[in-house]
Amino acid sequence: MGFRGLRHPLREGRRIQERMLTGHSVRSFLVGGVVACLLILVFVPPLALLHRQDLPLERRFGALAVALVARLQAGGATNPFGAGARVSEPARAAYIGSCAVCHGPNGDGRGIFGPDTYPNATDLRGEDAKALSDAELFWITKNGLAFTAMPGFASQYADIDIWDLVSYLRALQDGSARPLSIPAPATAQLAFADPRGGAAQRGAAVYFAAGCAACHGPVGDGPADLAIPGRLEILVVREGGRGMPKYGLDRISETELADLRAYVETFAGR
Ligand code: HEC
Ligand code: HEC
Repeated sequence: MGFRGLRHPLREGRRIQERMLTGHSVRSFLVGGVVACLLILVFVPPLALLHRQDLPLERRFGALAVALVARLQAGGATNPFGAGARVSEPARAAYIGSCAVCHGPNGDGRGIFGPDTYPNATDLRGEDAKALSDAELFWITKNGLAFTAMPGFASQYADIDIWDLVSYLRALQDGSARPLSIPAPATAQLAFADPRGGAAQRGAAVYFAAGCAACHGPVGDGPADLAIPGRLEILVVREGGRGMPKYGLDRISETELADLRAYVETFAGR
């Protein structure tokens, strides 16, 4: 009988030490990993906000990412207006008022803000946009693209109006769409807008700030289909529809709506 059956206290101690060491290094590896991830989370987004130049292949990668997420999200919905180009007057107005500031009146991506956003607003007549299905265009327009300037329009347009817009994008692509031209406000018309003035003046301030002039012209003198004279049903602002965006209380308060009515009433008989 020897001591072979029993563990040697010294050897046993070393074994325990080794086991502790492995446990220890796994733990420090994990902690290090978590710290590194946190540092990346803290520093990368701010750096990404500064990023303004294309890395090689970055645009390609962006276009692929948009195509991929649109394909995954869009599902198989079909356009109730049918595939292909279609110009409806409401969609033409909606496009001019809601999209043209970035994508340009004819879809080339060169609207007022288009070339200054990063990534730039897309040329909607380009191959990438043509390759998107109607369902994908619908999904992008409705939901927007996070971390880019592309807004989602779900709170402003009903689905049917967004499908109508999709058909209009097809018309921009095949060249059959003719942009609307909206009268630009004159200095005197802008000067009338005064948030501290009377009701009509306050209403004018809301009218310009809320983008009404982008579709209706400065004094409701947009193209005939938008001309407001005699059509004072201001509640349409809450309801929207047929090319008219809807404005919730988060955009226009009840007091502002009352002021807007006072301004719109000055259009009558113009
Ligand atoms: C404030 C600027 C802005 C407005 C307004 C805007 N967009 Fe965009 N849109 C963008 C930007 C920027 C991109 C590019 C995003 C990217 O490259 O990832 C984009 C991308 C798109 C795309 C994807 C095209 C592609 O091939 O990747 C579609 C479709 C689109 N916009 C439709 C619309 C429609 C329809 C409207 C109006 C209802 C609209 N956009 C209004 C800025 C805007
Ligand atoms: C994106 C374009 C667009 C914007 C922005 C817009 N509208 Fe309209 N609006 C339309 C269209 C298109 C119609 C016509 C709908 C129809 O055919 O009945 C319309 C209709 C109207 C009407 C007439 C409704 C009726 O009874 O016939 C009023 C009033 C009106 N808009 C007020 C406003 C005001 C006020 C704002 C700003 C808060 C505004 N709109 C913003 C496109 C727009």
